[in-house]
Amino acid sequence: CGIVGFVGARPALGIVVDGLRRLEYRGYDSAGVAIVDGGELLVRKRAGKLANLEKALAGSPDGGAAMAVGTSGIGHTRWATHGGPTDRNAHPHRSADGRVAVIHNGIIENFARLRAELEATGVEFASDTDTEVAAHLLAAELAVLRAQESDDQGEVLAEAMRRVCRRLEGAFTLLAIDADAPGVVVGARRNSPLVVGRGQGENYLASDVSAFIEHTREAIELGQDQVVKISADEIVITTFDGQPSQGKDYHVNWDAAAAEKGGYDWFMLKEIAEQPQAVADTLRGRLSEAGEIILDEVRLTDQDLRDVDKIFIVSCGTSYHAGLVAKYAIEHWTRIPCEVELASEFRYRDPVLDRSTLVVVISQSGETMDTLMALRHAREQKARVLAICNTNGSTIPRESDAVLYTHGGPEIAVASTKAFLTQITACYLVGLHLAQVRGIKFADEVGAIVAQLQAMPDAIAKVLTTMEPVRELARSLVDVNTILFIGRHVGYPVALEGALKLKELAYIHAEGFAAGELKHGPIAVIDEGTPVVCVVPSSKGRSLLHDKVVSNIQEVRARGARTIVIAEEGDEAVRPYADHLVEVPAAPTLLAPLLTTVPLQVFACEVAAARGLDVDQPRNLAKSVTVE
Ligand code: G6P
Repeated sequence: CGIVGFVGARPALGIVVDGLRRLEYRGYDSAGVAIVDGGELLVRKRAGKLANLEKALAGSPDGGAAMAVGTSGIGHTRWATHGGPTDRNAHPHRSADGRVAVIHNGIIENFARLRAELEATGVEFASDTDTEVAAHLLAAELAVLRAQESDDQGEVLAEAMRRVCRRLEGAFTLLAIDADAPGVVVGARRNSPLVVGRGQGENYLASDVSAFIEHTREAIELGQDQVVKISADEIVITTFDGQPSQGKDYHVNWDAAAAEKGGYDWFMLKEIAEQPQAVADTLRGRLSEAGEIILDEVRLTDQDLRDVDKIFIVSCGTSYHAGLVAKYAIEHWTRIPCEVELASEFRYRDPVLDRSTLVVVISQSGETMDTLMALRHAREQKARVLAICNTNGSTIPRESDAVLYTHGGPEIAVASTKAFLTQITACYLVGLHLAQVRGIKFADEVGAIVAQLQAMPDAIAKVLTTMEPVRELARSLVDVNTILFIGRHVGYPVALEGALKLKELAYIHAEGFAAGELKHGPIAVIDEGTPVVCVVPSSKGRSLLHDKVVSNIQEVRARGARTIVIAEEGDEAVRPYADHLVEVPAAPTLLAPLLTTVPLQVFACEVAAARGLDVDQPRNLAKSVTVE
């Protein structure tokens, strides 16, 4: 979910709605706002995308007029967990007297018990959400505190919030606004993201800085279990127990334009086009002229790295696929056993971890709850955790022993593209660094790879100039029911990623397989005309690998498949078996995923667009999933 809060001298509504637009990638099942004006609390909320709420706001002049002038407000865009995506379950949720409104991101795990308790006292619930308990609990605490008389109603709201937070279990960011405390918004955070934006005579709260970046670049990262009270000219942070506390100030070094479409129809197209730059930014300053890898943000000593005897890479979705690619390179270069695991499975199977285990967590957002929980489990077991992350100051890097930022710039489209390429690049830097620190056998190969890595941004740019035939092909396939993707070695995770992109964006059934495994079962689904995308490794160097994939292509073609082949320029051996051939520049086998993935991203994007779908916000998904 996305959360915004504003207090200042200007009308809040427009600022809150604009902020929600920038956070909509975090969830778009419903949207809502609450504004306080002249001792009144006004709420509007609608199921569906933000546009529905905007329509409702435009069409209600009565409440709308008051809403348009209030100078404090909160807003929410939802990815549904408890309770379907209806108007009723949309946030904000109000107390029974309608004086307090609450928005929430996360899951309140003890909500059922709290709800029963409240119902026993006669409270009636207006929704099926876990969030609503917070609104009623807050109202109850406010009633107790207000009986004690106080001049500072904002502080009363903050104290009520602290008392409520002490009773909640699970993960939550909460914002509350109170008709009796105008000019104040109170926020709280446990396990879910919340940042403060410090303006001039106005202040902001948001799930991430993109919500307020056009107004201020001065941000404060809140710590775990903190409550913050903002007014127009004050930001007060305490612990849940009321002890004065502090966040971490930082300056956001990208500007609002980075979070705009910049002339592209979709953020995804823009982000695909940004990949050469993004990979260059991941590499920048990390390769010395002597070909050495410099990882200054990695707070692990060389000795720590020499002691590593096992690596786990743990992540979700596209980031998991980046980990699968990285495994091939890391094991090959370092000779350290490396396993790749889905974060949502990791801690539940009791993995064997100790001080000499290095757990590499990969997360674009740095907020994915599955990955965060895996990280915490790893640290409890004394493993060292290195985060590869794109979002400065997010929870995952903050809780890790070391972090390598990908510096890919904001990724807004829900389906991940540039994050994937930059994550692979960052993992390779880690692998090469480990190999160097440990004095590897393949010194020459590592030196050559460093040089070749630096050539990848240009090679990616070249791929991007040849995508028109891929788009044409995509448009011809809008009506297919199934598309298979096959690959071997690093081409296998690329196939998985190609299939994931197509599922996410085009809602077409797609599956990725290891090309060699096809004959052990999946080949049975191939029928006359079934499209099969084949990711072919380089014919140079490891030609055995190449030849095996060419055989696999022949096997599927013999069963009627229509083959779409992604191969290296000048690969003549594969040409006779390709119904459609997409050529990419030559690259060493381990670096090829940085090129072969690109046509698959473009393909999925174009199929979805041709089907008339929302490329940036596919159904049922959210960019940053902050629940387990
Ligand atoms: C969500 C997104 C995916 C993403 C995954 C992991 O499911 O829809 O695109 O790959 O989360 O996200 P992370 O931010 O941890 O890389």
